[in-house]
Amino acid sequence: MIDRNNHLDVPFVPTPFEVVRGMLSVANLKPDDRVWDIGCGDGRLVIAAALQHGVHGVGVELDPTLAQQARNEVEWAGVGHLVRIVEADLLNVDFGEATVVMLFLLTAINLKLRPALLAMPPGTRIISHRFAMGNWIPEAAWTLGSTPIYRWVVPPNGPELLRQLEQEPTAPNGNPATLP
Ligand SMILES: C[S@@+](CC[C@H](N)C(=O)[O-])C[C@H]1O[C@@H](n2cnc3c(N)ncnc32)[C@H](O)[C@@H]1O
Repeated sequence: MIDRNNHLDVPFVPTPFEVVRGMLSVANLKPDDRVWDIGCGDGRLVIAAALQHGVHGVGVELDPTLAQQARNEVEWAGVGHLVRIVEADLLNVDFGEATVVMLFLLTAINLKLRPALLAMPPGTRIISHRFAMGNWIPEAAWTLGSTPIYRWVVPPNGPELLRQLEQEPTAPNGNPATLP
């Protein structure tokens, strides 16, 4: 485990609820999905996934005050049987059981997570609000208002793709389309 002195990589900026709905919509959730939000803030993404789609979720949050707020929100929303909040550093957490990973971080942090993401089972969906992932081109992208949303799907050859991406110069992130 890396000791980073509880360093917060990104401040809490909540995703607006219409963008939350857009992210959940493009995730194409199925009843047996497990949604993880890495840096979950007040837990709104995993709570909305549970309320609107009935799926299990885990929120990872390093800030203890926000983690407690997220737990309170989970309780108030009545989704404690579906949602768990883990107080942990995103670089020290094993999110390998997720089938959908939600991100609203920074490109630099997404890139630090990329090796773990590309080691996930093929078909895992990754949805990012606003920030892309360098030369790993998203499989789809939308703009909602002025907000980009990106989606990647882990391919069957994730580790091999990671090696290629790490050798290539950074390429464009893909062209946003309109949210369906
Ligand atoms: C931009 S906010 C997004 C919150 C939420 N995902 C949303 O979309 O509304 C980023 C969150 O990541 C958390 N965070 C920052 N660095 C972290 C780290 N190293 N480990 C876990 N969480 C972290 C922040 O405290 C903040 O709540």
